[in-house]
Amino acid sequence: MRVRPAQARDSEAIRDILDHPISRAFSPESAHQATESAICYVIESEDRVLGFCRFDPHEDGGYELSMLVHPEHHNKGFGSFLLDGSLKELSSGTRIRVEVVPNNGAALAFLMGRGFTHIGRTEHADVLEMVTP
Ligand SMILES: CC(C)(COP(=O)(O)OP(=O)(O)OC[C@H]1O[C@@H](n2cnc3c(N)ncnc32)[C@H](O)[C@@H]1OP(=O)(O)O)[C@@H](O)C(=O)NCCC(=O)NCCS
Repeated sequence: MRVRPAQARDSEAIRDILDHPISRAFSPESAHQATESAICYVIESEDRVLGFCRFDPHEDGGYELSMLVHPEHHNKGFGSFLLDGSLKELSSGTRIRVEVVPNNGAALAFLMGRGFTHIGRTEHADVLEMVTP
């Protein structure tokens, strides 16, 4: 299992993860709209891409995080390994913001267990933030 920068050949696997109905139900619209200058990492296990972590530059500085693990592989530790491996690649002191759709308690628990703090709500999402160590 490893985390590595995403490559063009990963686009089909990433699209499959994004298009899964469970992913659609639990990811904000922003997860589906990558900016050109986004930084993206994937987690690969046995030659299969099982998830991605994408950092889109945010208007207030820092990045907006979108992350998804393939729904068939939730709760197996892949998300933690992917997030840790991706955050390590960013400079220390980088502000990371993430939006979580309502009724996604699993993602809130996941992110808050990994250093994110709940900072507020928009009309459509809870907003969490962290600054990389
Ligand atoms: C959030 C997500 C990335 C986590 O990935 P994952 O591979 O399932 O994560 P892990 O297996 O490493 O860890 C899951 C953690 O959540 C916890 N968890 C899972 N469901 C939970 C629930 N309903 N309530 C509380 N905690 C829950 C697990 O106990 C585990 O915590 P622990 O490691 O401290 O014991 C994945 O669920 C996902 O892709 N969700 C849909 C998209 C999304 O919500 N993305 C985040 C915002 S963009």
